[in-house]
Amino acid sequence: MNNELTNQIRSKCDIVDIIGERIPLVARGKNFFGVCPFHDDSNPSLCVSREKQIYTCFSCHATGNVFTFIMNYEHMDFKETLHYLGERVGVDVSSVRIAKRNTKFDPFYDAYQFSLKYFQNNLLSKAGHDARDYLASRGIDDQVIKEFEIGLSLDQGDDLTRLLTSKNYSFAVLNQIGLSSDNRDVYIDRIMFPLYDLTGKVVGFSGRIYRDNGLNKYLNTKETPIFKKGQLLYHYHVAREECRLKKSVIVMEGFMDVIRASTIGIRNTVALMGTALTHEQLQLIKRLSNQIILCLDGDDPGVHATLSIGDMLLEEGVEARVLVLPNPDDPDSFILKQGKDKFVNLLENAITFNDFKLRKLKENVDFRSDEETAKYINQVLLETTKVQDSIRVEIILKKLAKEFDLSYNTLEMRFRELEKPKPKEVPVVVTYQEKKKKTKYEKAMEQILYFMLNNDWVISLFEKERFVFPNEESRLLASEVVYYYTTYGHINIPDFYTYVQDKEEVVNFLNDILASDYVESTSRDELFEYFGVIREYSRTQEIKRLTNSLQKEIDPIEQARIAEKIRKLRIGDNKNGWRN
Ligand code: CTP
Ligand code: MN
Repeated sequence: MNNELTNQIRSKCDIVDIIGERIPLVARGKNFFGVCPFHDDSNPSLCVSREKQIYTCFSCHATGNVFTFIMNYEHMDFKETLHYLGERVGVDVSSVRIAKRNTKFDPFYDAYQFSLKYFQNNLLSKAGHDARDYLASRGIDDQVIKEFEIGLSLDQGDDLTRLLTSKNYSFAVLNQIGLSSDNRDVYIDRIMFPLYDLTGKVVGFSGRIYRDNGLNKYLNTKETPIFKKGQLLYHYHVAREECRLKKSVIVMEGFMDVIRASTIGIRNTVALMGTALTHEQLQLIKRLSNQIILCLDGDDPGVHATLSIGDMLLEEGVEARVLVLPNPDDPDSFILKQGKDKFVNLLENAITFNDFKLRKLKENVDFRSDEETAKYINQVLLETTKVQDSIRVEIILKKLAKEFDLSYNTLEMRFRELEKPKPKEVPVVVTYQEKKKKTKYEKAMEQILYFMLNNDWVISLFEKERFVFPNEESRLLASEVVYYYTTYGHINIPDFYTYVQDKEEVVNFLNDILASDYVESTSRDELFEYFGVIREYSRTQEIKRLTNSLQKEIDPIEQARIAEKIRKLRIGDNKNGWRN
């Protein structure tokens, strides 16, 4: 990969602008603060530095440069990020080839990719005859089967498991990733709908029965290291671009709804897949667009889900719109029966969430009863306290006054009583939560590394002194720093980030250091003091290690040799080829 080009793009982007477009930032001193999007929080614990061009969360330790921010926030891979940012700053990246990143999960993804192809082939084979008939009867044609990569699992019991074990997958792995259970296939004779992660990789399946066999309608992949249901939304990877174009996102209940909507050209959709909406999913939806249209099933559970999701969104300061379907239709059945134009018409007439809620409140109220009427009006007032726009509040109160022939003042007075006191501005107080307590020596080592990351001369001195850290993770990071410095002649944290981004342990450790409050610059004398502290620590550690092996050693000659080593270390003699 072309490092020069990435550095060029990076240096042309201002991280404060890029992050500031996505989350509100407040300037404090040299830095900018905002609510971290990478963990559940409402405190401004994300710190963005214009000077250093990096961000750091003091709470969850998310750290990185403009590339890692876009990758994590927009769920793009490195290549997509490079294209996105390159386009913004006018650097042509069309020629850049990026080697695929290797992760420890690659074999899992490969197993899923293999299973996907296998299921797809089954559906097209003779064994898929009935399943194809079933799909056709639901109006799912070959084009849709292809687009959504629909397949079929066979009724053999261990066909897929055998295939995968012959490709050197162990039973343990296949059980772990949810393709096998007790060393046999999980999915038997079901129509297989692949489930994708946020970047579009297949990470699970939902298998649907297609004959009346009394089994559960859907069988889903269990939670695995690559499949975390609460963090995914069906169709997200496609919706991302579509929502940008259409400037809205439509939220549905099932993937069949999403699939059906795509047959009429509506693709700015995501599906929840039968679970209660998690906070992470809520954030994902908000990220797709700030125009959110809830289009859940028209039955009672669907109405309930609409009310609960709409309220969750309101608490986040977003008022959704609701596409109201007749009971008991879902988007799939409605589109099938009524066609595209009717659906588009409902979409265009989606009502505000507040109107939806008021409409629901009104159902089943007996307006002949004063008590019920009063209760209803109070409920309306309570719900109206959640409306942010004061003009709309006045409109609602006026309508209500007119409808029930009440005085506006009475209603307004009650409304003010019900209004909750507005939460006070949260002051920017950053509390630093340390993951585990670091020892004095760990801190000293990290401080040295931080000096290196910020000062070229420290790296030179480190090299000249042939300083060696006593622990593996510091040695690893130091060697990357030295290598980077000797290659590029200058160290710079954001570019160094990009350089090490594939090395998970290095990035984790780097994040940890950058999220702590180490001092940036130092003097030569002070640095030598730090070196001294670590050397002293290394020496006592080595003495401990040798004393330990001395106790275990039974050969008297070897014992004497170790004892001599310890003695020399105690008096500070370092000649035995052992440094520091
Ligand atoms: N679901 C599930 N298990 C079930 C029922 C539902 O996992 N037994 C999930 C599926 O992900 C499904 C979603 O909940 O997509 C919505 O459920 P439902 O409305 O029942 O599914 P439909 O989209 O109507 O599916 P179909 O039309 O095939 O019956
Ligand atoms: Mn349904």
